[in-house]
Amino acid sequence: MLRNTLLYLSNQQRLFNFVRNNRFAKGLASRFVPGETIEEALDVVVGLNGRGITASLDLLGESVHNEDEARAAGREYLTILDRINERRLDANASVKLTAMGLDVDEDLCVEIMHAILGRAREYGAFVRIDMEGSPYTERTLRIFYDRLYPTYGPHVGIVLQSYLYRTDADVRQAIAAQCRVRLCKGAYQEPPDIAYPKKKDVDASYVRNMQVLMRDGNYPGLATHDERMIDAAKRFAHSKGIAAERFEFQMLFGVRRDIQEDLIQAGFRVRVYVPFGTQWYPYLMRRLAERPANLAFMTGSVLREAVRRR
Ligand code: FDA
Repeated sequence: MLRNTLLYLSNQQRLFNFVRNNRFAKGLASRFVPGETIEEALDVVVGLNGRGITASLDLLGESVHNEDEARAAGREYLTILDRINERRLDANASVKLTAMGLDVDEDLCVEIMHAILGRAREYGAFVRIDMEGSPYTERTLRIFYDRLYPTYGPHVGIVLQSYLYRTDADVRQAIAAQCRVRLCKGAYQEPPDIAYPKKKDVDASYVRNMQVLMRDGNYPGLATHDERMIDAAKRFAHSKGIAAERFEFQMLFGVRRDIQEDLIQAGFRVRVYVPFGTQWYPYLMRRLAERPANLAFMTGSVLREAVRRR
């Protein structure tokens, strides 16, 4: 119930306009979004790299409203790739197609992606296309397979979500193409005719698809904080003799740093997703929806800090 309410609120842009400059809301956001500028985000990446962890930088911002906004967001991604390269950081970038103008004009979106992926190829870098809600699944995969992957192969990858019924078939397609996949459970509100309503089925789908990707896929990214999924991956790798270099675990900035450290100590690869920018509201609401207990925990810590400051 609370999850659905938070996911509903994540789409209410008017509410964001209202809380945008509110100190309390910004305090909550800072737990998951380490900064509004690229330099702040890069400093976080330096810290992660120092701990043996790689990163994926994400400029926050979803569906843009016109061509100018889409082109501006595209230019920001070129800067991200330039700065990663200049500072010699161990990081890649994650991008949402709606932020590159998918809802404005598909050809525009593809043109902007060509510029970004061309720059990534120049640097030998990698860009992951995030997966958004189900109205975008088919379009995102079609653009990826028909218009981007054939040209940029190892420099671009996709995300598949285990809560969708279609994902078993999508994993088979990805394996046939040998493209890089990030597997996550899925963060959007989806109807029961296209997504498993029960967590146990989402988890079973995650384990099933994770195993196929680990065995036959191309360097899958296992994006989860769920210790049961992580243990299942470790056990599967051990039983099938799959080396730790053949896959990576991925987690979100601000979530389960303890597990990140344990995995690194045990010799596994870990990448942390580092979102930054001013458009933090829908991202924050999705994180709260994943674990509503965060709301109470974070409210308490922001209030305590506010009291201390007085
Ligand atoms: P689950 O939600 O079952 O949580 C298991 C446990 O993990 C919880 O009990 C808690 O301990 C911990 N946990 C999970 N989320 C937490 C949070 N927010 N705060 C604190 N603890 C938390 N989704 C999508 O639809 N498209 C995408 O492109 C991506 N990309 C992406 C990249 C990366 C690197 C990650 C880690 C995740 C995504 N996601 C995503 C989000 C993903 O789909 C999913 O919503 C979250 O990862 C939560 O699912 P878990 O697998 O962590 O398990």
